[in-house]
Amino acid sequence: MDTLNDTFDSTLRSVQQAQTEKELDDIRVQALGRKGAFTLALRGLKDLPKEQRPAVGEEINRYKKSIETALSERRIELESGAGENKSGFEEIDISLPSRARFKGSLHPVTQALTRIEDIFLNVGYDVVLGPEIEDEYHNFEALNIPAEHPARDMHDTFYLTDGQVLRTHTSPVQIRTMETRKPPIHIICPGRVYRCDYDRTHTPMFHQVEGLVVDRGVSFAHLKHTVIEFIHSFFEESVEVRFRPSYFPFTEPSAEVDVKGAQGWSEVMGCGMVHPRVLSMSGVDPNEYSGFAFGFGADRLAMLKFGIRDLRLMFENDLRFLNQFH
Ligand code: DAH
Repeated sequence: MDTLNDTFDSTLRSVQQAQTEKELDDIRVQALGRKGAFTLALRGLKDLPKEQRPAVGEEINRYKKSIETALSERRIELESGAGENKSGFEEIDISLPSRARFKGSLHPVTQALTRIEDIFLNVGYDVVLGPEIEDEYHNFEALNIPAEHPARDMHDTFYLTDGQVLRTHTSPVQIRTMETRKPPIHIICPGRVYRCDYDRTHTPMFHQVEGLVVDRGVSFAHLKHTVIEFIHSFFEESVEVRFRPSYFPFTEPSAEVDVKGAQGWSEVMGCGMVHPRVLSMSGVDPNEYSGFAFGFGADRLAMLKFGIRDLRLMFENDLRFLNQFH
């Protein structure tokens, strides 16, 4: 029985190490075949004393069963390919769910700005940029907002040193353009602006787009047509638009523009005819030229278009929010 036990151990070991069906067959023949060690052992039972035969026979049969089980388990392993991996690499489990793939997309504000630029580029406007660190002259004085003017309070300005400010609007780009270009001028000026303000509809940084047209014979009718066409084009439908008389120091007359949506009227922009003082301060003769201007928050327009209720979401970069704008 001791030799048989050793044979059993070594047989199991060869089963484990077998790499092919053929090897398994050979092992089976050697152990359980006609001349196999366990078959011969069973045959030898007759030489034992009668009383010992049942116990020893049972033992031998247990060995045989174990070997058969080991053989069929190893066969299944080999069939599934598991036994062939000698490379040391991790095995590929093709039943595992694949890893999620994330696809980037443009930020909703970028999408809105791109759309706005396209609309105006299509009708011949230039896109002009200006500095975000601005001097008080361009941000205020040249726009007819002198130092003691109450309109300065409306802006919650971030003041820097040396008479510089973070621009509170994109209107100074109107001034810089008139200083350096001769009419006819058709421009829009998109960009970041800054105000010390924070709640559901205000963030310290937001985006505006300024528009300026200066030429001979420019009238309020041109302004109205341009604004209405732009709004219809941006929202991709004929939303209702209304002009309300308003006041801005740099335009005369001035108006605010509202669009009608699901929640009623929402203000979307300020506009007006460029004040003659603003024209002449920037080197444009108001007796020869007239102009209109408008300015609006691009983030605000994007909020209305996409139905976003909190402006702050735009700048938190939460992927659960951004993923909705693919
Ligand atoms: N600059 C104004 C603001 O930030 C918006 C504005 C109003 C711009 C009227 C204009 C305009 O060009 O004509 O509140």
